[in-house]
Amino acid sequence: MKQRKEKTIFSAIQPTGNITIGNYFGAIKNWVQLQPDFNCIFSLADLHAITVRKDPEEFKQKALEAYALLLACEINVEKSLLFIQSQVNTHCQLAWMLSCCTEFGELARMTQFKDKSSSHSDNVNCGLFSYPVLMLSDILLYRADFVPVGQDQKQHLELTRTVAERFNFLYGPTFTVPEPYIKRGAKIKSLRDPTKKMSKSDPDLNSRIELLDSPDKIMKKIKRAVTDPENHVKYGENKDGINNLMTIYSCTTGKTLDEIEKEFDGIGYGEFKTTVAEALIEHLAPIQKNYSKIIKDKGYIKNCYKDSAEEALNISNETLNEVKKK
Ligand code: TYM
Repeated sequence: MKQRKEKTIFSAIQPTGNITIGNYFGAIKNWVQLQPDFNCIFSLADLHAITVRKDPEEFKQKALEAYALLLACEINVEKSLLFIQSQVNTHCQLAWMLSCCTEFGELARMTQFKDKSSSHSDNVNCGLFSYPVLMLSDILLYRADFVPVGQDQKQHLELTRTVAERFNFLYGPTFTVPEPYIKRGAKIKSLRDPTKKMSKSDPDLNSRIELLDSPDKIMKKIKRAVTDPENHVKYGENKDGINNLMTIYSCTTGKTLDEIEKEFDGIGYGEFKTTVAEALIEHLAPIQKNYSKIIKDKGYIKNCYKDSAEEALNISNETLNEVKKK
């Protein structure tokens, strides 16, 4: 990180599945936009991902691809850190100490734990349960002021604040108490069931747009997106599908929902969907072009993550040592 700014942001993404426009609009696009004004520290949370069993070779490849895709989205490693979590061993060390400052009941209340333990009932491991402690350690190690995430991470951030405040109260000021940074696009919904969030692990491929989807696939998936019988492009109750497409279009073009309603006044869903798909295709094209170049240069990718891990280790060691002393 070349420049030291006054405030720091931290965020991370799991390298499971393929990154979707939900991840992009909910988190990554904000990371990119915040880069000029903050010290930015980003991570590929591979340790979080192993709460669900993985094929080791496929997992390694996915992590490399996810890293390249973040570079292609214009995470700039000249300005920001982008490291792989398992390469910076301070995270697990702090997680152990902070697990001793986190209540069992607090973790048992996490809705993601409840959801994931019911969807992976054959493997409800302790990692799944203590996942938020590793996540809050990720954040607190870098004394982040803001954490840009999607809506689904809000509860984990509330716990982060609780544990930071608890530690500061017991042992004296140590951690920055971080604020969530949650903006428009924080909850992009599934295209097949717009009452659920779009997820990179949904078995139905038509439920999501992946950043590397071809133009043809994007058009087909948007055309098949579930809507309602009204045929009226208006944001409102019982219109989850249209609300979602309007949000996607808004995130893609920067237009407000009011502007979108006016633009499509008197125009049916068919034409609206074509316009949304075309805007997305155009928006994702430069990312896809960057990615196809970057993924060929494994040496470059490796240098980027090694350099970032070294610097992340230096920064996080300072916090870890202070916590150990206390
Ligand atoms: P993950 O990998 O599930 O998601 C990465 C980011 O994408 C956001 N997101 C969405 N935003 C809008 N609409 C959606 N449909 C959507 N789906 C996902 C997530 O909110 C997230 O910001 N536990 C985290 C990874 C993590 C982390 C951290 C995040 C590990 N340590 C420290 C912040 C700080 C996770 O599983 O994200």
